[in-house]
Amino acid sequence: MTDHIKKTVSPVESIRGQITLPGDKSMSHRALMFAAIAKGCSKIKHLNIGADALSTIACLQKLGVTFQLGKFTVDVESPGIHGWKQPQDGILNCGNSGTTVRLLAGLLAGQEGLEFTMTGDASLSVRPMQRIIDPLTKMGADIHAQDGHLPLHVRGKKLTGIHYTLPVASAQVKSCVLFAGLSAQGKTYVEEPQLSRDHTENMMKMFRIPIFRNKDILSVHTLRRVIPGFEYSVPGDPSSAAFWVAAGLLLPKSRLLLRKMSLNPTRIAYLKLLRSCGAEIDIIRETKSLEPMGDVVVRSSVLRHFQISGRQVPGLIDEIPLLALIATRAKGKTVIRGAKELRYKESDRISATVEMLRSLGAEAEELEDGMIVRGDTVLRGGRVDAHGDHRIAMTASIAGLLSQGPVEVHGWSSVEISYPNFYSILERIGRS
Ligand code: S3P
Repeated sequence: MTDHIKKTVSPVESIRGQITLPGDKSMSHRALMFAAIAKGCSKIKHLNIGADALSTIACLQKLGVTFQLGKFTVDVESPGIHGWKQPQDGILNCGNSGTTVRLLAGLLAGQEGLEFTMTGDASLSVRPMQRIIDPLTKMGADIHAQDGHLPLHVRGKKLTGIHYTLPVASAQVKSCVLFAGLSAQGKTYVEEPQLSRDHTENMMKMFRIPIFRNKDILSVHTLRRVIPGFEYSVPGDPSSAAFWVAAGLLLPKSRLLLRKMSLNPTRIAYLKLLRSCGAEIDIIRETKSLEPMGDVVVRSSVLRHFQISGRQVPGLIDEIPLLALIATRAKGKTVIRGAKELRYKESDRISATVEMLRSLGAEAEELEDGMIVRGDTVLRGGRVDAHGDHRIAMTASIAGLLSQGPVEVHGWSSVEISYPNFYSILERIGRS
């Protein structure tokens, strides 16, 4: 019988095998949104079918876009961005998904004559939205929320392009402003302090939307053309792959082949970091369509400690809890700083990560903007509260493979958000 409260992951000696990764979550959201912007029929293959992508689908359905969902493929039919309709109750429920609310708000802000209330679950309702309210208001949007939190009320207005400097590097905020720029008069400029994931820009280029980068400044023009339907195949998710990378590196006599992973440079900084600490990771069969993609081979390795500073954080943002787990097994003391953004994710990932490591027997110290993790530690196992956060649940589960005793993951079902079949793969490779 399934235990709905906890999942127990027991230690294994080694893991071997190959894994087909789920479609990238960030690219799935964007592909769905572009299919809704486009007029006509689109097909998206290898879609991430986690709860977050389903939240995007549910919102777009209420705008009059239709979806036929297969196992990993979705057929989309849209009237195009200028044909979106007013949802009857006006409510767009974004569930747990920050990407859904922030990117979609950018597209909705310029929908003159339409009105929306964007809502979300308990976690999304405490995450900061002022970061999108500020630039959109400057563009002329009518967008309001109490204390900068959901529900977010958006009344479509005529927008004007602005030059916006992001206070913190965030692909979600960057994408929000770029999307709003599509319906704004004049050019919209977005300046980012550090490069964050660039899928929105890449997809805009794919649709020949005039978007340009000059050093740290992106500019986008009003969208005057009708984008036709398209076919697109989503590469494997590097942030989901990271869990298997950790297990393959840290368990003895292990070898994993991760298939068709996105090798977008803004997403694989963790591979580079781990390689610089001694990780045996090889990229084979590299190909490129819209973005580079390839197979990744991981072998058991002896790792040295590492340092992460603010400059590196945008490129590692979703992998830091897992890197902190890896740090417990590396030689020496790891220091992670400049990562305050982690406090505003699906959970406060600084405190959730430190709490997790400590409850498994590691030595970790919480800092305002990061953490210090002592290495050379064999975890003893124990009980972890995932705080409803999919990345904490999966990190704790990988810890279960490596510890002396089992790890009980409370809140394990949050893996649904990005990786619904995570546990079936864990069971398969843990046995082989
Ligand atoms: C995402 C961007 C990141 C990341 C999130 C997905 C995206 O957030 O943490 O999981 O799809 O644009 P920020 O850009 O807000 O840091």
